[in-house]
Amino acid sequence: MKRYLFGLDAEYAHRLTLRMLSLIPPFTPPRARPELAVKLWGTDFKNPIGLAAGMDKDAVAIRAWEMLGFGFAELGTVTPRPQAGNDEPRLWRVPERRALINRLGFPSEGMLAVGPRIERMRKAGISIRLGLNFGPNSNTPPESVAADYATLMEGLGPAADFIVINVSSPNTPGLRNWQSPEKMTELFAAMLGKTGESPRPVLVKISPDLERNELFRICETALELGVDGIVACNTTVQREAIGVSSPHPGGLSGRPLTIRARELIRDIHTHTRGKIPIIGVGGVSTAEDAWLHIRAGASLVELYTALIYEGPGVAERIKAGLADLLRRNGFRSISEVVGIDR
Ligand SMILES: Cc1cc2nc3c(=O)[nH]c(=O)nc-3n(C[C@H](O)[C@H](O)[C@H](O)COP(=O)(O)O)c2cc1C
Repeated sequence: MKRYLFGLDAEYAHRLTLRMLSLIPPFTPPRARPELAVKLWGTDFKNPIGLAAGMDKDAVAIRAWEMLGFGFAELGTVTPRPQAGNDEPRLWRVPERRALINRLGFPSEGMLAVGPRIERMRKAGISIRLGLNFGPNSNTPPESVAADYATLMEGLGPAADFIVINVSSPNTPGLRNWQSPEKMTELFAAMLGKTGESPRPVLVKISPDLERNELFRICETALELGVDGIVACNTTVQREAIGVSSPHPGGLSGRPLTIRARELIRDIHTHTRGKIPIIGVGGVSTAEDAWLHIRAGASLVELYTALIYEGPGVAERIKAGLADLLRRNGFRSISEVVGIDR
């Protein structure tokens, strides 16, 4: 199967796979592993392994993620209005490094298409938790970007178990400027309105290309604003520095990101003294990878690129390995392990 899919153009293979996954009828979900359960923001997660944003941008295959054993899926990035994204080609494999490069630019069916799909799945009954990742439309003028996030919060926020503010995609010009303390404060004021509160946990997703002092300023701003969590991290625009040579433009994901993601997780956990939960994402493809992200400070872990290289059994394999690592190291729950390497 992998050989067949790798013979196709990367984006065509992605579409085909997603279409097949969206047609999966419900079957018995994989066996529960109570020792992997995590409680965060008052929400019960069956396990800490989640699907990262970008794989299921329009929420078409929620049932499949549950059946493949994920404890949660971060859907999106969703934009307020539908948009096509950048011109193709815009997705490439770098198989020798188990990496992907994309410059998709948020193709999205828009929030009015995504909301009812989630509602339908919730009515049908799901146990997987759903994060919703928000981004602005590419034709939104800079002075209205905060209003785009506010529109998404109002229209789609209530459908989510948690919300992720994506200010770190390298493929939407100017987006990463919203990581500065001033812009982040402006964004939160616009999104949360007069009450200053959100009915759902709100997380910020950050870039691996931040300087250390920028990262620390974000941590301090996040503490001041009462941000509920940090997702670390998005794709990188670096190439040579992490040993990748490729002519393709855009954000790089997968194995070359593992170490950088872990360093960010540890820095955030240290700098916030563990006060802000972290979703660790970047280069996770084995139980050991997930384990080390958790030890560095991640309460939950996500993956995307490993699904392409390791196949649909990856979440189950990681869960089995994590359960084993817990037992062998004498822990009874994931939460006991979070940040012990800090
Ligand atoms: C093809 C592709 C599309 C992505 N789209 C999004 C997106 O829409 N929003 C987002 O926040 N992150 C997006 N990401 C980034 C992932 O969510 C994740 O942060 C990154 O790929 C690192 O994880 P990985 O190494 O497990 O893939 C995308 C990644 C890939 C490979």
